[in-house]
Amino acid sequence: VDSPLFEIVGGVDDLHVHLRTPPFNTEILARLARAGGAGRVLVMPNLERPVTGASRATAYRRAINRAEPRLDALMTLYFTEGLTPADVETAAREGVTAIKLYPAGATMNSAYGVSLSRLATMAPVLAAMEKHGLILCIHGEIPPGEAVPVRTGWETASELATAGNAATATSSDPFDAALLKELIEAEPVVACSLTGEAYFLPILLQLTREFPRLKIVLEHVTTAAAVMTVARCGPNVAATITVHHIDMIADDWAGRGHLFCKPVAKTARDRAALRQVIRMGHPRFFLGSDSAPHSLPAKLPPNGGSAITLEQATRAPESLPSGQSPVACCPGVFTSPLLVAYLATSLERFGALDRLADFAGRFGREFYGLAAAAPPGGEPGVLRIFRRPQVVPEHYDLPGGPVVPYLAGVTLPFSVEW
Ligand code: NCD
Ligand code: DOR
Ligand code: ZN
Ligand code: ZN
Repeated sequence: VDSPLFEIVGGVDDLHVHLRTPPFNTEILARLARAGGAGRVLVMPNLERPVTGASRATAYRRAINRAEPRLDALMTLYFTEGLTPADVETAAREGVTAIKLYPAGATMNSAYGVSLSRLATMAPVLAAMEKHGLILCIHGEIPPGEAVPVRTGWETASELATAGNAATATSSDPFDAALLKELIEAEPVVACSLTGEAYFLPILLQLTREFPRLKIVLEHVTTAAAVMTVARCGPNVAATITVHHIDMIADDWAGRGHLFCKPVAKTARDRAALRQVIRMGHPRFFLGSDSAPHSLPAKLPPNGGSAITLEQATRAPESLPSGQSPVACCPGVFTSPLLVAYLATSLERFGALDRLADFAGRFGREFYGLAAAAPPGGEPGVLRIFRRPQVVPEHYDLPGGPVVPYLAGVTLPFSVEW
């Protein structure tokens, strides 16, 4: 018999996972997440009926615990405009870990989220989070098609990133400068899926200035700009990275619903930045899979056939014929059942296999201030990772419908046991 390549006591930490509610079965998803190698997960609150209060979070956690007592589930609340400082205090007392901010309209079930134009009115809630030690997790995208709110006072990293060509502004060629000025002044800047994250960065920086002791996690970063911005922030700001975003660029998901997620995977340069920050072993960048199952029908375009194109997926909604969504299917990639095998495969591809245990364990643990995983069932167990090929199933037959996992049908060189 082969011997394990790695052994990780307690398994890995997946600090961003979707365990759903009916028609999906939370219990089954919890067991699959544990089987994929996670000993601890941070559970997202964007259910069809969002997790808005501590009592719902506690009930949700109990359901997870009952199904899979070997999984330590950390809970999040949904940041709604109705949230109060008193709710935050209760949540802290009840052991809720974090509150997730979804800019309204940015992603799946984000309609209950905070409109970015009203974020300033939530200052008392953010102050309460800072006081009670709740972590702010952010889906950091300006919703597609929305005008970018602030255009002044941006910091260098995001300025560079968003304008993209901002460097041109300093060009000595007067034609360059004039053209750029005209382009910027011609129309209000409107975000699309490929720029929404970069345009969000000034808001992140604003939050860090106003709430310097608030711990913030920018979730599922996809751009070099976000990597640079978070890296330049102080010790209270971190980012999660998914497996699929360190693998893919836009060409990979365009037209392939099962690979489509939010934020979308971007350019080769962006992907290189994600890989580099992992390879460097930067302690404020750690694993959050964003594993998010959708049934096969939800992943097929509404007309039942034609694939979406990059152009369709990135066009602002108002520029499309009425009724046509720029996003023809639900965003989300399902990775949790084979998470560690996918991760090892990806990390090895860019020479970072030796970072697995830190990236998927120590770094997140240290940022969140957690001890070792403490599953309600007691003994956490030992995750063993083998160089042993396995084929990714074509689909999982889940109660909500068949779900096609990431890299269905592909042979991964790694397997886990625990
Ligand atoms: C999910 C559900 O029902 O939980 N539904 C879906 O994926 N179509 C969405 C959610 O997490 O709320
Ligand atoms: O791809 C995604 N899917 N991104 C999100 O932010 C939400 C998630 C989901 O809930 O399906
Ligand atoms: Zn998100
Ligand atoms: Zn998510």
